[in-house]
Parts: sequence; structure tokens; C-alpha cells
Amino acid sequence: MTTSAPLQFAYWVPNVSGGLVISDIEQRTSWDYDYNKRLAQTAEDNGFDYALTRVRYTASYGAAYQHEATSFSLALLLATERLKVISAVHPYMWHPGVLAKFIATADHLSNGRAAINVVSGWFKDEAVNMGVNWLEHGERYRMAEEFISYIREIWTKDGAAFSGDFFQLHDFDMNPKPLALDGRPTPEIFRGGNSGVAQSMAGRVSDWYFANGNTPDGIAEQIAGVNASAKQAGRTVKVGVNGFMVARDNEAEAHATLEEIIAKANPEAVEGFGGAVKQAGQSTADKKGMWQDSDFRDLVQYNDGFRTGLVGTPEQVAHRMLEFKRRGVDLFLLGFLHFREEVEYFGAKVLPIVRELEAAEAEKDVA
Ligand SMILES: Cc1cc2nc3c(=O)[nH]c(=O)nc-3n(C[C@H](O)[C@H](O)[C@H](O)COP(=O)(O)O)c2cc1C
Repeated sequence: MTTSAPLQFAYWVPNVSGGLVISDIEQRTSWDYDYNKRLAQTAEDNGFDYALTRVRYTASYGAAYQHEATSFSLALLLATERLKVISAVHPYMWHPGVLAKFIATADHLSNGRAAINVVSGWFKDEAVNMGVNWLEHGERYRMAEEFISYIREIWTKDGAAFSGDFFQLHDFDMNPKPLALDGRPTPEIFRGGNSGVAQSMAGRVSDWYFANGNTPDGIAEQIAGVNASAKQAGRTVKVGVNGFMVARDNEAEAHATLEEIIAKANPEAVEGFGGAVKQAGQSTADKKGMWQDSDFRDLVQYNDGFRTGLVGTPEQVAHRMLEFKRRGVDLFLLGFLHFREEVEYFGAKVLPIVRELEAAEAEKDVA
């Protein structure tokens, strides 16, 4: 099956130092604002619809410095014209009413381009050391579901009310509400995770499901889980997949670059990261949490992005993308080694082939 809508593209905002791979290989990518501002402008001129800003409050593995996600996202929104910027947020770090108000304001300042990615977290020490109560996995997901429901209520209704175990809202009017645009009644809500609870809750309450990197078949299985839950709730949910792209004119060069990233991995940081995230994944009731079966190679990219297999010539990468699209993927969330130059390369060399292949498939569907 191919959906007729063109594939959409997002990139990971490098608002955290060290780039997207835990490797000492040269990365011509910077986490500072000037670099990011130009990157965002370059991205919207090269076919990117969205940018995703990571949330991190303290040094984690290979990521010593971080800019705060919501404020950084707002700065990028103000520096661009069309790009939608998604801030990652942890429900246990925010009051949902304060976040709803922040995003409503950001939405007005950007003519309706603000979005959020509600993530349930894995970095226990970060929360505990900040004095924040760390709930077990299932409870973090219950909290996240209430968080999203509360935000939708306050964004859409006067006399808003919500009564949950974590959050309460009584007869509340928030004005202005975010902009209600055609096909986008509120700022979009993304949500990531591999576990069964992640899939079912994304189906019930989010607009988008974000998956770590995986094979086309692995992603199809996750999509089936999300769709089953969405169907029960009478909803549809779109799907985005993470992929680390290494596209080069020459296939051998692309693969050599990937191997060099892995050969120059920082083993201590990769193993430290692997230890922390596997503990998080094992704590899911179904033991299918993110990173459960990730090996050393996979963990060099924070979100299993090598598994998606976007490595090779522009033709090869574009064909690979179409394989995912046929299984129901709507968007690719892309990471790169040298962000600014590779975003341009993507726009010039890969995207035109993706669009040609999509047009050819659409003709086949009609025939
Ligand atoms: C696309 C994507 C982006 C994520 N961004 C962040 C982030 O910025 N900060 C963070 O602490 N966790 C982030 N996570 C991880 C989540 O917090 C969480 O650990 C994961 O979704 C748990 O999945 P599980 O349900 O399989 O256990 C992200 C996950 C995905 C898929």
C-alpha cells in the first residue's frame, strides 16, 4: 500500500553538543545558536517540514552541553518562515498548564508552527538529581497520557476541566488558544516509544507516533500496534521514523563513512548510554521497550538510526525510503554527520529522486 501524500521530512536539531553519534569522528556540526539558525533556514529551503529539538538538562553520554528545548525551538521559529519546530518535553518536568500557555504563545508568534514531542524519559539520574520524583515506566506513561489530554482540553475549550490521578483542571479559560488552522486544529502532538504502552497510548491521544530506527518489517509491526489502538479510539495517527542518513555520490564512500563513525565510537560513552537505556527498556511490562535489542553498533547513534539503512547513493537511499512509505510511514526524522552540508545535499540530490519515485508509484496506483 502507498499513501498518496508525499513523504515529509524532519531533522534533529543539534541543540545538544556532540552531534547525533557517540563517536570521535570529525562532525562539522555545532550546537550553538548561530549554526542552528542557519541550519533551520537551510532546512526549510531544502524540503524539510519539521525540526525536532531534544530535551536534556544535564550532561549525558557524549553530550556535555545542552540548550533548553522550548526556548531554543521558539528562537528557531522566529528565525524561519515555514519550518514547524517540535520541542521535546517530559511530563514529569512541566506543569501542563504552563507548557500549554508557552506553546500557545509560541504558536501565535510563529503563525501556527509550534509543536511538541511528549517523551516519557529514560534518564533516571537526571530527574532524581534534580529532585524530581521518578515513576516506574507504566506510571510515566499514565502520566504522559493525562498530560496530553489536559493540554488538548485547555487548548480547545472554555470552562476546561480535567480530573486525573496526576493533573486537575477546573473551569479554566486559556486565551488566546493556539491558532486553529485547516487540518491542524491545535499544535501537533508527537510521541515516541517502542513498548506496547507507548503504541497504545500514541494511538489513543497523539497526532503522531515517532519510532526509533528499525527495518521496514520492524516498523510495520509497530505501526500495526499503533493503528489497532487508534482504530479503537476512532482516530488516525501518523508515523515518523528515525534514520541516520549517510548519502554520498559513491556507495563505497557512504559505507566507509558509516564504518568510520563506528570505528571511532567512544566505547565508554556508548556502553554507559547502553547501560542506562537498556535498564529503561527492560522496565517496560512487555520487555519490548526502546533499545532492548540494540547492540554496540546500534547504540553509537542515540536512536538506533543506522538500523533504518539510509546509507548509500542518493538513488539507494530514496528507494529505501519508499520501502518504508509502502508500509505506512509518513515522515522521516533525519540525523546527519555534518548537518548543514548534508541537509543541502539531501535537498539537491535525494529529495528529487524521492519525489520522482512517488510520482511513478502514484501513476502505477492509477493504472
Ligand atoms: C523520536 C524520539 C525522540 C526522543 N527524544 C527524547 C529526548 O529529547 N529526551 C529524552 O529524554 N528522551 C527522548 N526520547 C526517548 C523517550 O524519552 C523514551 O525513553 C522512549 O520513548 C521510551 O520508549 P519505550 O516506551 O519503548 O520504553 C525520544 C524518543 C523518540 C522515539
